[in-house]
Amino acid sequence: MEKSLVIIKPDAVNRDLIGRILSRFEEKGLKIAAMKMETLQPYKLKDHYAHLKEKPFYEELIKYMSSIPSILIVVEGKQAIEVVRKMIGPTQGREAGPGTIRGDFSVSNQSNLIHASDSTETAQKEIERFFRPEEIHEYKKMNFDWIYSKGEKELK
Ligand code: PPS
Repeated sequence: MEKSLVIIKPDAVNRDLIGRILSRFEEKGLKIAAMKMETLQPYKLKDHYAHLKEKPFYEELIKYMSSIPSILIVVEGKQAIEVVRKMIGPTQGREAGPGTIRGDFSVSNQSNLIHASDSTETAQKEIERFFRPEEIHEYKKMNFDWIYSKGEKELK
């Protein structure tokens, strides 16, 4: 099973969209392996967004992301990283297609509601950045046998 780090960003919290965004993942059949609310400190965000240090919007991005709490989630499922990226849509909300989270609720590239890991390598780093191992839960949900076929359960 693959894990992806999802951040429901401050704009989504301000706009009362936490529940609706969370529901999308539950309805899809993904499992919530960890979840917490945290006001992200600039030092952690600087690490998280280190690859954007030279961008003109970098300082503003750190300020906005640390302005109020975010919801941090570890989502789990078969090919969860790719599945979640498809569900959120591209960075620019105005370009995101209907049916995606950004496409349905965002018209911005900064206030785009949500962050999700983009590869196996970044997912592992991001999960370790925001969660301690004991905060991530291993459990079998009652509906597991209705989410995947027998064959699919063998897949990563
Ligand atoms: S970029 O610009 O090519 O690096 O775009 P991308 O990798 O998709 O975006 C990385 C994160 O930067 C945010 N972003 C912006 N913030 C403010 N202003 C502008 N213009 C802007 N462009 C991109 C974007 O929301 C991405 O945040 P995360 O948390 O990674 O989704």
